[in-house]
Amino acid sequence: MRKKIVAGNWKMNKNFEEAEDLLFDIADILKENRPEDVEILVCPPAIYLELAADIAHENGFDCGAQNMSEHESGAYTGEISAAMVASTGAKYVIIGHSERRTYFGEKDSLLALKVTQALKHNLTPIYCCGEVLAEREAEKHFEVVGEQVKNALFHLTAEEFEKVVVAYEPVWAIGTGRTASPAQAQEMHAFIRKVLSDKFGVAQADQTTILYGGSCNAANARELFANPDVDGGLIGGASLKAEDFVKIAGSF
Ligand code: PGA
Repeated sequence: MRKKIVAGNWKMNKNFEEAEDLLFDIADILKENRPEDVEILVCPPAIYLELAADIAHENGFDCGAQNMSEHESGAYTGEISAAMVASTGAKYVIIGHSERRTYFGEKDSLLALKVTQALKHNLTPIYCCGEVLAEREAEKHFEVVGEQVKNALFHLTAEEFEKVVVAYEPVWAIGTGRTASPAQAQEMHAFIRKVLSDKFGVAQADQTTILYGGSCNAANARELFANPDVDGGLIGGASLKAEDFVKIAGSF
């Protein structure tokens, strides 16, 4: 179902105490001023998921993992399974973030397995796609993003796909302070919806939540979220400050 979502991707930041403080700060601000009709979630490092789920669920928000294994269980030292993520109370998992693609060599074929595995354990995958700068400059961005969407999501049945959230994150905008313009975001989100509609039908594509990510902050969120095909944001740097994060969630 199409929803407004603002998700914080903490990446590899915060020790335990700092994580706890940030969670309680978010909870405190939300108690005073809860933006309506928007699902808010944080994706802390996996080691804090249980803590995050407890605090989040008591305070009207949610949490998710930043990654998980494509395997069910077994001898995969250092990995975290979908079942483990789900057992903490987390409801979401980011899959295919560009940092996973770039630094850990994750390919669409692997991400397709991860999406299936997340759904098997009733987690909502937030599937990330986005082109690098050279691809945009070569005007290949639609082709690249279209392929990423097809390769990792088109094996799903319509029923399975219903739960998937897509995040468009142009790699050149992540952590760079350089945001896609509202027009660039809208254009790509509309394109992704079209690609999805060719496979799953217009009605289902219309019901898909598509988030924007890449230097989205409290100052620019409103004009990004004002676009008809932008349903919210996946927020990195600005999600590490409770006030900014909640302000972004209130930017619809
Ligand atoms: P950023 O990161 O907001 O710091 O650009 C977004 C993301 O990587 O999800």
